[in-house]
Amino acid sequence: MTEPRRDGMTALILAAGKGTRMKSALPKVLHRIAGDPLILHVVATVERLGCERAIAIVGHGADEVRAFLPEWVQTAEQREQLGTAHAILQAQDWLKGFEGDVLILSGDVPLLSLETIAAMQGRHRAEGAALTVLTFAPEDPARYGRVVRDASGRIARIVEYKDASETERAIREVNAGVYLANWPLLHQALLGVGNDNAQGEYYLPDAVTALLAAGHPVAAHCTDDATEVAGVNTRLELVSLAALYRERIARRWLEAGATIEDPATTWIGPRVTLDEDTIVEPGCLLYGRTRVGRHSRIGAHSQLIDAEIGSDVTILSSYLSESSVGDGTTVGPFAHLRNGASLAEQVRIGNFVEVKGSSFAKGAKASHLSYVGDATIGAKANIGAGTITCNYDGERKHRTVVGDRTFIGSNNTLVAPVTIGSDAYTAAGSTITDDVPDGALAFGRARQAVKPGWVLARKGITP
Ligand code: UD1
Ligand code: CA
Repeated sequence: MTEPRRDGMTALILAAGKGTRMKSALPKVLHRIAGDPLILHVVATVERLGCERAIAIVGHGADEVRAFLPEWVQTAEQREQLGTAHAILQAQDWLKGFEGDVLILSGDVPLLSLETIAAMQGRHRAEGAALTVLTFAPEDPARYGRVVRDASGRIARIVEYKDASETERAIREVNAGVYLANWPLLHQALLGVGNDNAQGEYYLPDAVTALLAAGHPVAAHCTDDATEVAGVNTRLELVSLAALYRERIARRWLEAGATIEDPATTWIGPRVTLDEDTIVEPGCLLYGRTRVGRHSRIGAHSQLIDAEIGSDVTILSSYLSESSVGDGTTVGPFAHLRNGASLAEQVRIGNFVEVKGSSFAKGAKASHLSYVGDATIGAKANIGAGTITCNYDGERKHRTVVGDRTFIGSNNTLVAPVTIGSDAYTAAGSTITDDVPDGALAFGRARQAVKPGWVLARKGITP
């Protein structure tokens, strides 16, 4: 693959529109594919491109959209949606003194690839263009802006569907809404764009005519993959693009050396990374900032959201969110890790164990049926089956500390705040309310009483 050049390019992401046809209270760019809002798919592309910075133009649901953007993405607000040219001008304060190129993308076009951007960039540079437009020629050019070329085949202007004549509407080549432009020249051109057209809007594509009139070269790069430039306007389009995305992302990781056993049922978000020889079994969802190290196995039907997984890890049919798992650790089947659960190396978390906001040091185990919340578990400690940390007193959460090599017997109730030292032992069935010193044995249960013959006596039977 040809790597796009990355020097000094700023990405501008158009995301102020409402998306009326989604029939949704949610701004369009916040609808999700593989766990991530559409705009984060675009941000991930920009990040992989290595753009120096990104500015998102937000409008409808501006605060909601901002809340999803990573800190390095700046935002400019377009209070009224007066058109795409007007939208770009909202970023002008951020771009004062910037002399490089801007890459203009739409927040609702999630599948655009680095390869296509690189090809477009190649043309832009080869032609020394002030502006390069990405175009495509779909079977049905629908309501896209038509690309009008002159007798020599060069782009002359873009005419919006609503403004186009019958002859122009017959043109199949259309504007994909992706542009690469020298900022000072584009800025100058946009300042001169008017809104005397069928929609009374300031059209970004009018910069084509303005630049040509001022004697600056404009290029059009026609891509043959129409799906890549497809935008989301309806929920039907959302799910059909999601299906395409699912296949493409699986292919990308297969090519990178991870096995995605069943791409048809596996969803991998755009910010996820998988190291070599990772195996992802059918039905998995890997979302958010999830990372998986080498030689790890993500067993069927697992869900990983913002999970940091080391190498040689086995996760079986489990749900992990905002959690980390160290090298050589095994989790599941049917475990639940959440809210900052952090497992060191060689830990074993078995079936029906929930771990919340707790750390397990190297070699610690909770093999069966436990709730470990707000706890610090020492190295090689063993949490017996059925152990529950009582971390919540109805008002506040409290911590439980279990020392290194300590053995918590089966069915213990650890009433926090409580500290059990290292090399300690608690008897099965204990309710531990007081701290246990290092090396001690603690019992916290009623002693068993046996009354011989009691049942028979009650029934009046003499043995
Ligand atoms: C635009 C292009 C059209 C092209 C098509 C490709 C214009 C005038 N036309 O048309 O040539 O074929 O995209 O999809 O640009 N937006 C704002 N603020 C605004 C208006 C729009 O941020 O004031 C954003 C939208 O949220 C969207 C993008 O700009 O992300 C494109 O806007 P949209 O209204 O969808 O433009 P189209 O009419 O589709
Ligand atoms: Ca559109």
